[in-house]
Amino acid sequence: MHRIAHSILVIFGITGDLAKRKLLPALYGLARENLLPEGFRIIGVSRRGTTNRDILDILEKASAPESTENTSDPEREAAIRRIGNALRIIDMDIGKTDSYGVLADTLAQADRDAGRPMNRLFYLAIPASLFPTVTARLAEPDINTRETGVRESRFLIEKPFGQDLASAQALIDQLGQSFDEAQLFRIDHYLAKETAQNILAFRFQNPLFRGIWNRKHISHILITASEKIGIEGRTAFYDHMGAMRDLVQSHLLQLLALVTMDEPAVMDSRHIHREKEALLSRIQPPTLDKMAERTVRGQYRSYRDETGIPDSKTDTYAALWLEIDTETWRDVPVLIRTGKALARKVTEITLIFADEAPGSANRTGRRNCLTLRIQPDEGIAVDFAIRKPGFEDTVEQVQLDYCYRGLEEPVRSDAYRRVLFDALRGDATLFATDREVLECWRISEPVLNAWKEDRVPLEFYDNGAAGPAGADELAGRAGTEWLPETHTVCRFPQRR
Ligand code: BG6
Repeated sequence: MHRIAHSILVIFGITGDLAKRKLLPALYGLARENLLPEGFRIIGVSRRGTTNRDILDILEKASAPESTENTSDPEREAAIRRIGNALRIIDMDIGKTDSYGVLADTLAQADRDAGRPMNRLFYLAIPASLFPTVTARLAEPDINTRETGVRESRFLIEKPFGQDLASAQALIDQLGQSFDEAQLFRIDHYLAKETAQNILAFRFQNPLFRGIWNRKHISHILITASEKIGIEGRTAFYDHMGAMRDLVQSHLLQLLALVTMDEPAVMDSRHIHREKEALLSRIQPPTLDKMAERTVRGQYRSYRDETGIPDSKTDTYAALWLEIDTETWRDVPVLIRTGKALARKVTEITLIFADEAPGSANRTGRRNCLTLRIQPDEGIAVDFAIRKPGFEDTVEQVQLDYCYRGLEEPVRSDAYRRVLFDALRGDATLFATDREVLECWRISEPVLNAWKEDRVPLEFYDNGAAGPAGADELAGRAGTEWLPETHTVCRFPQRR
């Protein structure tokens, strides 16, 4: 593990949506838990005349207590102060290569202030169009300096990683010319969620489950990621993106890989990525003739009004049926669905157990399944049948439930805290590799192309509802159904 002391984090897009919603609150969390490394500095890059005060206001809002009574919280104030003291904002136009002198000077000054070379971590949440200019300039030696054992420069890259297979490949080629693979950290923050990290431990540390994690015992795999929020004013970003690119191509295929990959020979970053890449390479998108049968695209009803794009065909909902062409998973339907403006925020993975071979009905007519609840109510539940106590000879459905809600922060830590912490210490396990990104595009692109050609109708669904009816029909065609809401209720009392 590389040393993490004396690091400077340069944030491109410090006033952008991602920085506001995820990165700055994560920095606050790390500061509050005393997890920021010794001698830590932050440079915020902005071209809007942003001041330190603006950033501190964002932090204050993000960390504000829920109740208005008793607002004094010395730890909160100390954490915000710590960030304020570490922060310096510089004004520059990142699209102009001749404006980077100020950044290089500020970095050099930070080295002088520290009396030693500072490790450099660049967080890039920038529009795809600016990517080539920004990375080409950052690659130059006044900014991208590395001396083994003395100083590292690392680059944290936010999604979207390309818009399709060809643009992702072009990006990879371009980055490959300027940076070493060890310098690049492609963020997929779902991988850093505590419960996603637990998937491999759970699968491979428990003989009870390890032995039945295959097509002989599992009839279906269901992955749901529903969000209550709509696109929240992010039209410019989202209308070119859609649910398929935004969630499926990245987060949900990554989760699927964790749930279905083979056991790595060694539980380290290299071996885990190798198995994940191997699994992703075997996932088959629907063939063109089956696109309408195996994919669903939807849009929430107020989307066009909200964005002012009356003919937008952007998918705010996507559902699909994939297959994995391996000995372990052949013929097990994998159903994925995600959408915005739905009834609930929930991400979960459910494995439905088969009685015998895939496709056969459960003998009890009831569901025997295991659910990995990624968020909220993080935990694991097993649904099974027991004889109902009493004089009637009936069977009832019960649930074994482990809920993380009993754990204190920072154990259930926010994913972006983990992303930053791991990038600072140089651990790439929870980041995506080039090959993983490309495989995810290979799987997604045929679906995107078919949708673009209107081979699958766009279904509209009511805001706050369960999503388009087509998703239920899709599950029915695959011989199953999405699980009822009651399935995901954690019975552990809410702590706060
Ligand atoms: C991001 C997407 O990657 O993930 C957003 O771009 C989405 O559209 C977000 O809202 C969801 O993340 P989380 O951690 O809130 O589930």
